[in-house]
Amino acid sequence: MPVRNQAALDFLLTRRSVPAKTMTGPVPDKSELEVILTAAARSPDHGKLVPWRFVVLQGKAFERIIEEIKRAGVRQNRSDDEIAKPLPHYNNAQLAVVVVEKVDTEASIPVVEQVYSAGAVCMALTNAALASGWGANWLSGWFSHDATFRKDAFGLDENERVVGIVHIGTPKSEPSDRPRPDVAAITSWVNE
Ligand SMILES: Cc1cc2nc3c(=O)[nH]c(=O)nc-3n(C[C@H](O)[C@H](O)[C@H](O)COP(=O)(O)O)c2cc1C
Repeated sequence: MPVRNQAALDFLLTRRSVPAKTMTGPVPDKSELEVILTAAARSPDHGKLVPWRFVVLQGKAFERIIEEIKRAGVRQNRSDDEIAKPLPHYNNAQLAVVVVEKVDTEASIPVVEQVYSAGAVCMALTNAALASGWGANWLSGWFSHDATFRKDAFGLDENERVVGIVHIGTPKSEPSDRPRPDVAAITSWVNE
């Protein structure tokens, strides 16, 4: 008989993100975050290519990133509203982890599978932070797809992309849930 890990299952059935704007300090310290990163790195990875890495953003980095977002917005001719929209995520941020995708185009493993693996790492990171009792929120934003921003703000190489910027902190209040998909409607059962 399978041995049920009820606590893990309960967590997975009730987990929910905490909007970055509604988080504050404290945030995990280095050793707590290292546990969360270790859990995140324990993700499915076809070919064991490790096509991802982490950039940890802390403290003063956020002031610089806000300026980089504004610069990217001007460069891209974004409206004032578009530029202003993501800033509240960064104004009070104290800790975020950029999950970076670095695919190997020469590898026998299809690039799309390496990208899926990087997405799995983001999910595992979010869940590990939530399971540790913190709030967490997987964000991107138009700027995260801008090559110059990625290089200037996060130090990414040309062949690297942002999979997600996972904000971690303390929820100011109990996060409300959102409607969840109707699993029966999105599931087909094939048995012949
Ligand atoms: C790849 C990706 C990028 C996202 N980027 C944003 C974003 O930039 N802004 C935002 O408000 N939500 C964004 N979201 C959605 C948030 O992560 C949202 O909190 C999440 O879908 C809530 O679902 P959960 O409660 O099941 O974790 C993104 C989600 C994914 C998967």
